[in-house]
Amino acid sequence: MIHRRIFWVTLALFALVLIMAACAPPGQQKVSGELNLLCTPQVEWCEGMKAEFEKVYPDITVNFVRMSSGESLTRLRNEKDNPQFDIWWGGPVDSFIAAAQEDLLEPYTTPSQDKIINKDLMLDKDKNWVGIYVGSLGFATNTESGVTPPTSWDDLLAPELTGQLMVAHPSSSGTSYTALCTILQIYGEEEGWEYLKKYAGQVNQFTKSGSAPASFVGAGEAAVGIVFSHDIVKRIEEGLPLELTFAEEGTGYEIGGMGLIKGAKNLEAAKLWYDWALQPETQEIGPKYGAYQAPTVEGAKPFMPELLKVNLIDYDFQWCGEHKKEFVDKFTNEIAGAENLKK
Ligand code: G6P
Repeated sequence: MIHRRIFWVTLALFALVLIMAACAPPGQQKVSGELNLLCTPQVEWCEGMKAEFEKVYPDITVNFVRMSSGESLTRLRNEKDNPQFDIWWGGPVDSFIAAAQEDLLEPYTTPSQDKIINKDLMLDKDKNWVGIYVGSLGFATNTESGVTPPTSWDDLLAPELTGQLMVAHPSSSGTSYTALCTILQIYGEEEGWEYLKKYAGQVNQFTKSGSAPASFVGAGEAAVGIVFSHDIVKRIEEGLPLELTFAEEGTGYEIGGMGLIKGAKNLEAAKLWYDWALQPETQEIGPKYGAYQAPTVEGAKPFMPELLKVNLIDYDFQWCGEHKKEFVDKFTNEIAGAENLKK
């Protein structure tokens, strides 16, 4: 009799421990090992996020590689049968939409998504990806160049800017692809491609990463760069002679994405990162590492709300994502090749 009671008490205690473990808030669940992170935002933020995550989950070691959006997509495609990454964090969602079309992402539904401020825009209906930040496209002008800072897309075609424009290549960079797809939406496809030919003719050199033109323009290698506004602010803070302006008729913007990788070897750790990245406290970490993108969850305050209080177009992420391969191939084959990109 006593034995039986001990048995039941032990069983009940065991069940209680299991239930408590399952309900433990993020940060207290016991998962250990490695997490392989594909990280697309600026490297300082990737490093910072790794350190912050490891503080909360000391039993998990984060290994990250910083790669631009287009490069990331190619890498995921090539590794489809043997994925090396567990989660992809950052970079415009256009590339995540393209990745989901190729079945490269693992859908994930979690209560953390409830806090997303605009689910129509920032949460994929099939839960392949979720939005983790928002940022607008701007123009960075070197204040010592004597050039009047552009305030419209047409200004970029001015003769004084021939050979003076810098932007990343849309095949490697999500920033540049956002600019390309913004132009197609503002001018319409036919006129947009004509515009893109002239715009490419103004470019001094295409870079690989989206934010690089801000540094090169700051160093005087060209007069104007097309970069996300928060990246321009960061370089201004570092002391580069840059002025930030926007296209007044409308500028494009990004929703930075996050998604689990199909076939991820460390799926449990990846889910912990995913849930952690959607906590308001986590979304307020960016400014500590020079990342001023706006958050996507309730309860997190934007550090520089003014960067989104500009004339934003009603950017069609679905359309841009679904046509990404087609538009990038057209740009690369008919307008400007992607060889010898400046790092
Ligand atoms: C920078 C921006 C991010 C953006 C990323 C895209 O790091 O700060 O907001 O998502 O560029 O990178 P890419 O190199 O693909 O343009």
